[in-house]
Amino acid sequence: MKDLLWDKTLSVDVPEIDQDHRRLLELFNRLGHAVDAGEPQAYIDAVMDELISCTDWHFRHEERLMEKYAYPGLHEHRAEHQDLITGGKALQQQLRQSSASPTPQDIAFLEHWLTGHIYGADMAMGTYLAETMPS
Ligand SMILES: [Fe+2]
Repeated sequence: MKDLLWDKTLSVDVPEIDQDHRRLLELFNRLGHAVDAGEPQAYIDAVMDELISCTDWHFRHEERLMEKYAYPGLHEHRAEHQDLITGGKALQQQLRQSSASPTPQDIAFLEHWLTGHIYGADMAMGTYLAETMPS
């Protein structure tokens, strides 16, 4: 699988959020490497669990900042987070039930799952926070 490399186009201009996003990309890459290397199912499941748990934690980080700085798009953004976690957990559940490794399609889904939200909703939030948060 091809690694996702963090670059400026992914920056939302809020360093503490960019830092989380870099970590999530690393976990995504770790998952791809584990699949490529044919690691045992339990290991792949553990990496997947880490990716989803860290994403869930990170979403709460963003939501805390959006609440603190009264971001007007908070409700829509939070709803998008909830949909993403539901989608990620559904994939995880499906893989566990079938004792299968993620397919290239599953990895492509996760890539979009991660970057689609950063390029979309997170950019809008970042623009607002970068202007509103004290530096
Ligand atoms: Fe977000």
